[in-house]
Amino acid sequence: MKIIRRKKDLNKIINKINSLSFIPTMGGLHKGHEFLIKKAKKENKVALVSIFVNPKQFNSKIDFKSYPRNINKDLKILKKLNVKYLYLPTYKEIFSFKTKNKIYLHSFSNRLCGKYRPGHFKGVLNVVNRYLELIKPKKIYLGKKDFQQLVLIKKHISKNNIKTEVVSCNTIRYSNFLPYSSRNGSLSRYSTDLASKAFKLIKKEKKIIKRKKIKKISLIKIKKKLFDFGIKKIDYIEAVNLNSLKKAKKYNEKFNIFSAFYIGKTRLIDNI
Ligand code: PAF
Repeated sequence: MKIIRRKKDLNKIINKINSLSFIPTMGGLHKGHEFLIKKAKKENKVALVSIFVNPKQFNSKIDFKSYPRNINKDLKILKKLNVKYLYLPTYKEIFSFKTKNKIYLHSFSNRLCGKYRPGHFKGVLNVVNRYLELIKPKKIYLGKKDFQQLVLIKKHISKNNIKTEVVSCNTIRYSNFLPYSSRNGSLSRYSTDLASKAFKLIKKEKKIIKRKKIKKISLIKIKKKLFDFGIKKIDYIEAVNLNSLKKAKKYNEKFNIFSAFYIGKTRLIDNI
C-alpha cells in the first residue's frame, strides 16, 4: 500500500489512474468502513482511502481531542483489504488552497444533527469538497448510517456539477443490532447493551407503526422508554421521509426513525 501525504504525489497518481474509487474516513476503521472499501474495490478496482480527523467538523474541542485514533490498527486493516492508496494529509495540505467550488449547504443541514452540532455539516462539506477537487474520484463511497451527511454531500455535488458519483452503502450492524461506529470503542459492556436495547426498541416501534397503520406518527413513547432505560440525554428522535426529507406523518411513507442520544459521554446516532 502506498501512503500519500503530499498533493504533488497525489497528483502523480491521479494522472496515472483515471477512475479512482474514494472512501473518505476519519480512521477508527471498523466493519462498516471495510464494507465500503470492499464494495469500492469490487466495482472500480483501484481504491483510495483517506484518513484525516477533520477539526472543522467538530463543534467541541474536547470531542475532537478524544476522537478515537489508532493508525496502526487502521494500517493493518487497509493492508489486509489490499488497499492500493492511503491518503494521510496534514491540516495544511487540505486547508491551505483556494477551492473552485462554493460549499452548498442545503436546508436539510439545519435539522437533526445540524440543530445540535452547529457548524458540523459545513465542516464536513468543506473537507469533502476539498477532497473532491484534489482527488477527482469517479465514485465516492459513503454510509447510510450518516444519512444526513450523505444527502448533503449529494446535494453539494449536484449543485456544483461535480462529476463524482455518490455510492450509498447500507449500515453494517453487530449481531446485537448496534451499528458499527468509530465511537463504539468508548462504550463499556453495560453501555453497549443499553445502546443495543435502545436501537432494537426503535426498530420494534417502527414495525408497530407500519403494522398498525398509524396515521399520525408519534414518537413520545420511544423517548419515554429510552429515559426509563436510563438514557439521560436525547438530542432527537424523529421520523423523516427519506424522499422529501420532511417529517414523516403516516405509516405508508418511506421513512426512517432518526435518533441521536448520549450514553454517558458518548453520542450515538442511527436511522432505522
Ligand atoms: O464520515 C466521516 O467519517 C467524515 O464525516 C468524512 C466524510 C470522512 C469527512 O471528514
